[in-house]
Formats: sequence, structure tokens, C-alpha cells
Amino acid sequence: MSDAAAFTLPTAFTELTGVRHPLVQTGMGWVAGPRLVSAAANAGALGILASATMTVDRLRSAVREVRSRTDAPFGVNLRADAGDARERVRIIIDEGVKVASFALAPSRELIAELKDAGVVVVPSVGARRHAEKVAAWGADAVIVQGGEGGGHTGEVATSVLLPQVVDAVGIPVVGAGGFRDGRGLVAALAYGAAGVAMGTRFLLTSDSTVPDAVKARYLAASVKDVTVTTAVDGLPHRMLRSDLVDALEGAGRARALVQAVRRASGFRKLSGLSWPQMVRDGLAMRHGKDLSWSQVLLAANTPMLLRASMVEGRTDLGVMASGQVAGLIEDLPSCAELVARVMAEARQVLGTLPGRG
Ligand SMILES: Cc1cc2nc3c(=O)[nH]c(=O)nc-3n(C[C@H](O)[C@H](O)[C@H](O)COP(=O)(O)O)c2cc1C
Repeated sequence: MSDAAAFTLPTAFTELTGVRHPLVQTGMGWVAGPRLVSAAANAGALGILASATMTVDRLRSAVREVRSRTDAPFGVNLRADAGDARERVRIIIDEGVKVASFALAPSRELIAELKDAGVVVVPSVGARRHAEKVAAWGADAVIVQGGEGGGHTGEVATSVLLPQVVDAVGIPVVGAGGFRDGRGLVAALAYGAAGVAMGTRFLLTSDSTVPDAVKARYLAASVKDVTVTTAVDGLPHRMLRSDLVDALEGAGRARALVQAVRRASGFRKLSGLSWPQMVRDGLAMRHGKDLSWSQVLLAANTPMLLRASMVEGRTDLGVMASGQVAGLIEDLPSCAELVARVMAEARQVLGTLPGRG
């Protein structure tokens, strides 16, 4: 192994998870499948499989597929509020998955069940009080996502949220939102983080299965082309600005409802959901928010809107969830190239910081 390849930055997070580098490829619906996850894991990052958009059977086969492609540790991301969360937790335990990652804070019981089975529990949070809550309930580490991060996101920027959470909890904290390179990794470590988690950067690799036309939209985007909208499902959601977003934001309530019903009927065919199921799912996503009926329908369809772009390449119809950092990303390295580049840059930056030597 060359000197550069042997360079590591061991942290409490690498120790906890057994991963080689303090880097996480996050769980992204329809994006973080077996191919990306195993490539990230083989590169020495913690790959996390996105399970919210998989059936329970698909989750089991996807876990086995990752296992067949790598001996390195990996994780599974799930929604703590999913009706079948317990079944998914069972699969994680039965299949010996190293890390359970949660999109929303898991219950105390779920954390205990996983920990008893030796699974490392790492919820993703967007606010200090959520980090404090899951830490008190026994989570092993947290991923804290600042507002510049892709997908559902909060208002507080990573540069403010990360040190705030580091100061508030006694468990390893992994920073997310806006990271793409070695400078970012060193900056996060300086804030007291034990690593960085990247979504958009891993989406934009040659190992990601996202269609080329969609990747091209991300590569062409400037920082200002990435927006936060509540028009899709009522929750702040960071994504590329597109005709869909413009149409939804421009539509009045009545027109939005007509559009939502039209889209929903198309997606209902795709997803196989019945109308009552779809409305039930949409209502479950209201989170106590005052959603219009069109938003309820769209909320139920958000996974299908993401699928339309991430799987079918429909840049006209789908949601392209994205971090602001897409505006700075210009290439599609393999996961191995990306991880090697990030670590080499971190090493070089550490060596040139003022005041050293
Ligand atoms: C396309 C896409 C899909 C996502 N889907 C999920 C998901 O299913 N579950 C989840 O916890 N986070 C999801 N996220 C958020 C990411 O896991 C991660 O926290 C975020 O991308 C970090 O910010 P960054 O994009 O600036 O790296 C998604 C993000 C993107 C870009």
C-alpha cells in the first residue's frame, strides 16, 4: 500500500462502526441501492442502503446483494415511523447489518432492541433538541444535517448546527449538509465532528445508478438552482428547481389539487397503491402540519416523484432532491476515486494549516 493510500484519520466514529475512513454515504431513496452502497463500502466509507423506498422483501435481498459484493461494514436507513419499521429492524438484526440509520428519531424501544442485538444506532437529526433526545435514549452516534443538505432539511446551516450539537451531546457526531471534499472533512473535524456524511456527492459518482440525463442536470446546476420548497409535500424539501417545482409553487390551491390528482393517478398506477392507502400515507406525513389536500396527495407520492427522476430519468416530472453543494460539483468520479481524493486532500490541508510545525 502506498504512503498516501495508508493515510487514515481514526475517530470515535470509525472505531464504533469499524469503517476505514470517517466518511458516510447517506441513505438516499432510489439512489443508495446495492451498487452504490457496496462501492462506497469497498472504498472505505460507510455505505448506507436506503430502505424507505424498498419493500420488506426487496430490503432483505438488497442487504444480501451488498454482502455478496463487500466484506466491509455497511448500514441500512429506514423511517422510524413506517408501519413495518419493526419488520425492517428484524431484517437488520437477522442479516447482521452493522449500522441502523434513521430518517426520523427512532423510539427508545427500537433503539434498545437494535443495541441489544449489537447493531450500532445512528439516527439523522436536523436540530439540537432531537440530537439530545436520541442521545438520551441510547443512540450510539448522530448524523446532524444542516440546512444546505439535500432532501427534507432544516433551517440552520451546518456551520452553526454542527458545533452546537457537538457541544450538546456526548456521543460521536457526524456532520452532513454541504460536504464534498477534504477541506470539508478537516473543517468538520475541527468543529469536533467524528466524520462527515455526504449525499449529493455520492449521488454524483459513476457508481450511482441515477440516469445520466439526471446526473447532467445536477452537474449543470449552480448553487442558486438548488431551492427549498414546501410545495411538494408540505415539509421543507431541498431539491433542484424544475418545471414541476415552478408549477406547484405557482398554482393556486384549486389548480394544485387538479394537478395533484392528475399526477397521483399516474403514480398510483406506478406504485400499485390504492386511493385510500395513498391518502392514508399522505396523512401520515402531515406531521401535524396544515397540509392542503393536494399536498396530502403529493406527500403520499413523494417517493414516486423521486423515483420518476432517480430511476426513470424523468427530469420533467420527478423530484430531484439535492444539496446546495450540487452547485460546486462538476465531475462523476467512482466512489474509490472520490474517497481517495477526499482523504488525500484532507491530509494535504492538515499539513498546510497555519501554525503547524
Ligand atoms: C436524492 C436524495 C434522496 C434522499 N433520501 C433520503 C432518505 O430516503 N432518507 C434520509 O434519511 N435522507 C435522505 N436524503 C438526505 C441525505 O441522506 C443526506 O442527509 C443529505 O443529502 C446530506 O446533504 P448533502 O446532499 O449536502 O450531502 C436524501 C438526499 C438526497 C439528495
